[in-house]
Amino acid sequence: MTIRSVVFDAYGTLFDVYSITAKLESFCPGQGLAIAQMWRDKQIEYSRLISLCDPNIDRGSRYYESFWSITSKALDYALTRYGAALTNLEVQALLNQYYELDAFKESADVLRTLKQRGFQTAIFSNGDPGMLGAAVARAEFEPIVEQLISVDEVRHFKTMPQAYALVQQRTNIAPSETLFVSSNGWDIIGAQWFGFQTCWVNRNALPVETLGPRPHHEGSDLAVVLEVLARD
Ligand code: LAC
Repeated sequence: MTIRSVVFDAYGTLFDVYSITAKLESFCPGQGLAIAQMWRDKQIEYSRLISLCDPNIDRGSRYYESFWSITSKALDYALTRYGAALTNLEVQALLNQYYELDAFKESADVLRTLKQRGFQTAIFSNGDPGMLGAAVARAEFEPIVEQLISVDEVRHFKTMPQAYALVQQRTNIAPSETLFVSSNGWDIIGAQWFGFQTCWVNRNALPVETLGPRPHHEGSDLAVVLEVLARD
């Protein structure tokens, strides 16, 4: 199958959601990683809760809130759950860092190489345009990524089919000719069920999900994308 477009998930895939762990650890010694994990898990749980409770096709979920809003609420929950009494300034510092998260070290090189090789590239994320734009600007990805596609446009989070459908609407390339790259196993399953070619970036050597199809391709960092496309 010829691949014409490469679409990347953002959080966990191009940007490191655990790069906030050091700051969390400095505010909550001994609990940084646990809070960071709960923050991420709650953020995803809230996105699913919203979508599942109102899968309205035309106008998006009535319960939709931007990913930034649920990211902030997820942090509040995680801090409370761990009994961490942070000052407003400390909470703001964490949110500021999350708004423009660090990119993984290989992200820029892979995006630049794809552009040089003539592939259309896009970032497709639950993130709303504000937070996505900030992370992309900080990482200086603007010249090397063609499109930023946010589910905010349809007010449905991944893994709703209405969210994945937005990719083709914006790229004009069929899912079967699009390589969808994500480090999130659940995102890979949703994308593959929708019809994309998939590449799972398994950074932590996790077992493959036992539900759904196996990813079409797998590697330990984003460089696998270049290997997959060189093979085609
Ligand atoms: C994204 C998150 C959920 O869509 O990984 O970028």
